[in-house]
Amino acid sequence: MATALKLRYYGDPCLRKAAKAVKNVGLAERMLIREMIEAMYAFDGSGLAATQVGLDLQIFVADDGDGPYAVIDPEIVKKSSEQSKMEEGCLSLPKIKVNVKRPATIKVKYLDDNNVMVEKEFSGLKARIFQHEIDHLEGRMIIDYASKEDREKYKDQLTKLSDLFQKPKPSGKKNG
Ligand code: NI
Repeated sequence: MATALKLRYYGDPCLRKAAKAVKNVGLAERMLIREMIEAMYAFDGSGLAATQVGLDLQIFVADDGDGPYAVIDPEIVKKSSEQSKMEEGCLSLPKIKVNVKRPATIKVKYLDDNNVMVEKEFSGLKARIFQHEIDHLEGRMIIDYASKEDREKYKDQLTKLSDLFQKPKPSGKKNG
């Protein structure tokens, strides 16, 4: 499936900015959400935050097995003191896996794609996805949770990814 949205990788400053609140989900936002869902499937991911495609908006889409859904302006209102650890990957950090410890259960407030305010409690995989994607909307990535050993292990891959962003676009003129 083709998508017009371009996936951003580690090193791109758009991944480190806190995204702007949407506040009202209208037709334009719904069209964008549809595009993001298409892009998520095209990139073969189970979640995609707007900041990962260079959009400065608090929107993420995900599919954890029951079809796609969209979350707008999410806010975690309660976190359990109980934590769980799970290995996570990220489209913006290919070939990297990080063990991330997070609250096991969270209560989240957000707008759905019908502009309806929802408040729900999640645990398990859904709590995991929500926290991973909310991190993206606040400029955080899984590598921020990595141990010193993991950081060392992935040093070359991280350098490769950030070099990809720094590199100027190839021009028509070739000089070897
Ligand atoms: Ni991610």
